[in-house]
Formats: sequence, structure tokens, C-alpha cells
Amino acid sequence: MQVYLKKGIYPFHMPGHKRNPMFLPQGLANLDLTEIPGMDVLSNPTGIIQDLQEAIADYYGADASFLLVNGSSAGIIASICAVCNKTRKLYAPRNGHISMYKGMMLSDVSLPTYILPEITADGLVGGIKPDTLDNIDEGAIVLVVSPTYEGFVSDIKEIAKIVHKKNGILIVDEAHGAHFCFHDAFPVSALELGADIVVQSFHKTLPALGQMAVLHVKSNRVDKTMLKMFLQTMQTTSPSYMLMGQLDYMLKMLWNRPEIFEKYIERLKRLRMALTSGDKTAINLTGTENVGKHGIFDIDIGKLLFRINTNKDAKEIAKILSEQYLIEFEMSIGKYVLAMTSVADTDEGFWRLWGAIGSYSIKLESDLCDLKQETGYHTIPNVIPKMAMTPRQTLNHKTETISWEKAPGRIAAETIAMYPPGIALVAPGEIIPEGLPEIAQYVQVIK
Ligand SMILES: Cc1ncc(COP(=O)(O)O)c(C=O)c1O
Repeated sequence: MQVYLKKGIYPFHMPGHKRNPMFLPQGLANLDLTEIPGMDVLSNPTGIIQDLQEAIADYYGADASFLLVNGSSAGIIASICAVCNKTRKLYAPRNGHISMYKGMMLSDVSLPTYILPEITADGLVGGIKPDTLDNIDEGAIVLVVSPTYEGFVSDIKEIAKIVHKKNGILIVDEAHGAHFCFHDAFPVSALELGADIVVQSFHKTLPALGQMAVLHVKSNRVDKTMLKMFLQTMQTTSPSYMLMGQLDYMLKMLWNRPEIFEKYIERLKRLRMALTSGDKTAINLTGTENVGKHGIFDIDIGKLLFRINTNKDAKEIAKILSEQYLIEFEMSIGKYVLAMTSVADTDEGFWRLWGAIGSYSIKLESDLCDLKQETGYHTIPNVIPKMAMTPRQTLNHKTETISWEKAPGRIAAETIAMYPPGIALVAPGEIIPEGLPEIAQYVQVIK
């Protein structure tokens, strides 16, 4: 770790604190306390943790908010377990995070119905069109990922109307949207648009420490006692007071000093403008052209998605930018690299990114080519593989690990996904199709 840090590489990836000391309280180690008198208990809070949860609920406009010390993953699993049962159908997005499948394995959900998000002209995963849900069952549980990893937001208001007309429950995986309600320049949070449960990773897009997330509930359709019980089940009884204490410190700073977000938005707008030349260059900032199409209602301007318009691979480009310009990206797949920004970014960091993209783009100019074919990365299948058993039923079978070449035709016992972003090409219980990109050496299958 120290060897890496000594290189001085600037982080355009999570966690959102970007190692900026401004958001870390002094004497952080002193915060590593436990459930001694006055320090409250996360699983059943009545003191300082409850005060913080109430302050968060107040700010975000929730009925109640719960700290998650095990990331959004814990919140997603707990939500599915709390609201799903054999009589209610779960509509699960095919761009759902791996934790969604774990939730299905642990909950009493019977057969999930997968919903395919739209795909953009470039082959990126877009949003969920509300009319995809027109025929959902009465009492449906609908899960939507919004924003996506790339920052694409679905029309949650319309989706919520459709779900509630059927007396259903809408869970929004807003893992990448914890910062939305801090400024009007970002999309409106699902919590304001009718979602019943919203799960946000504060460590991804706010300056929180790794693991910290929050589950918000705003609904009389959700059994809050059941939800609390499952949250207790998914979380440790020894939560880190350093993580919770820093969250408290950082949120209070942002709430008391709105100018911190104002400055970030100014810097971000300037950077986006500087990166948008209007001409096609070897590395182009992209994304906004998709708003209003492909189920994409809005985008998060904090995510900088670059498209490579040369024959070079994004991984190759990201490696060069890391080695020569000292910039680390969040993700590089196919023809795209993704930079995550946050309120903790510095002017120096933004300058470095602008300089690196600009000068390396010029170096690559002779390689510029017209990639007419779809260039996105296929993190979701075009056709959902045939389901042989539900994710939960896979737990009743013995499994074995086999080599990738032998996998087609076998039933997956695990989620087969590229990480990041952790979206399943094949879900547990599905028959592994031929022709998948080789993303692993071995696969766990049903024996
Ligand atoms: C869309 C989405 N949902 C949920 C998660 C899980 O979040 P966490 O890492 O906070 O558990 C991730 C993590 O990458 C994600 O990208």
C-alpha cells in the first residue's frame, strides 16, 4: 500500500474522500470506540447514533435512515429479505449489483422476473423505461438501479407511479447517488420521487470512508420492524466507530458549509467545459448525448465517462495515463474509461486530469478512427440466459468448480460478472450460454 501511495497517483475512483485530509477528523484513531456508556448501539440505537440517523433522515427527507457499515450491499440484501415473500413477485433489473442475487438467495422470493434496461447506440447500459413495467403483478416488488455505475438515471417518478398503482414497493439502488440532494446540478434523488426504499453508498460519491452507506425508507408500505430485523442480521455487532464518527464529522461539515459543494460544482462545470471541445478527439467526454433516450432521464455530471476513438483498448489507455500522468481511473472496459469525481477533489487533481486527457489525446491523433460499430462493454447479456432453477434453489445443490471452457450448458452456482461494475452476465441458477467473453478462469456450477 505504501509503495503505491508513494507514487503520488491521483484517485479518480472511490472512496469519495479522495484521501483529502479536510474531511478526516483529527485523531481519527481516538474515534475507534465501542458500545461503552454514551456511545450508543448501532443495532438498536437510542443515543448519538440515533441522533445522527435522525439528522440524516431529516436532511434527505426520509421517514427513517439507517447506517450501513457493510456498504449498500447490506442494505440491498436486507431490503429484499424484508419485503419479498412467496406471494409477491420480484422484478429485478438485469444491471443489478451482485448483492441483489445474494438477497434473492437468502430471501423467500420465488421466481424473479428480470427486467432488461435499455442499451444505448454505443452499447452502454441505459435506464429502465417506465413502460417496461406496465404489466407487473399486483403487489410487485420492483428494484431499479438508478443512477447506473456510469451515472444514468431512470424516470423514477413515473416508475414509482406504476409500481404504486399495483400496490407494489419500489426499491432504488441509488448506491452512486448519495450526493444528489446536496446540489441542484445533480439529478433529483429517488427518495423525493416516490421510491419506498433507497440505498446509498456514502463512501462512493461523498467523502466518507470505505464501507459507509445508508438505507432510507419513506413509505407506509414497508414493514419497518421486519426491515430493522434484517438490517441487524446483515450487520456486525461491532461496527467501527471510526467509520461512523467520520461520517458524522463529514456530513456536519457539508451541511454547515454549503459553499463546499458550490465550489465543487463550479470546478466540475469548468472541467467538463474544458474537456468538451466539440470536435471528435481520440479521447472524448461522453454521456450527456444520451439524455432523453434509451430510458435515460437524467445524468450525474460528477461521473466523467470517456470514449476512446482509436483502436487502442481502454485498459491500455488507463495504464498509460496511470504510469505517465499519475491518474488512476475507476474503471476501464472496452472503449470506455470512467473517472469518478467528488466534493473532495482538488483543483490540482482536476488540472491533472484535464492536462492528461488533452495532451494524450493529441499524441493519439494519428490513430483517430471512426468506430462505427457498437463499442460499449457488454456487462449485461443481450438475451437473459434460460433459468434452470431460482437463485435460492441453487443452495440446495452440491456444486463444483470447473474451467471456463467447460462451462457452457452447465447451471451457474454463482453470479458470473465483470468486476467492476459487478453486473451479472449469468445469474445463479441460469444455464451458462456459449460465447460469453472470458472473464474468469474457473466457474462454480451445479454438480
Ligand atoms: C450499482 C451498485 N449497487 C450496489 C453496490 C454495492 O455497494 P457497496 O460497495 O457499498 O456495498 C455497488 C458497488 O459497486 C454498485 O455499483
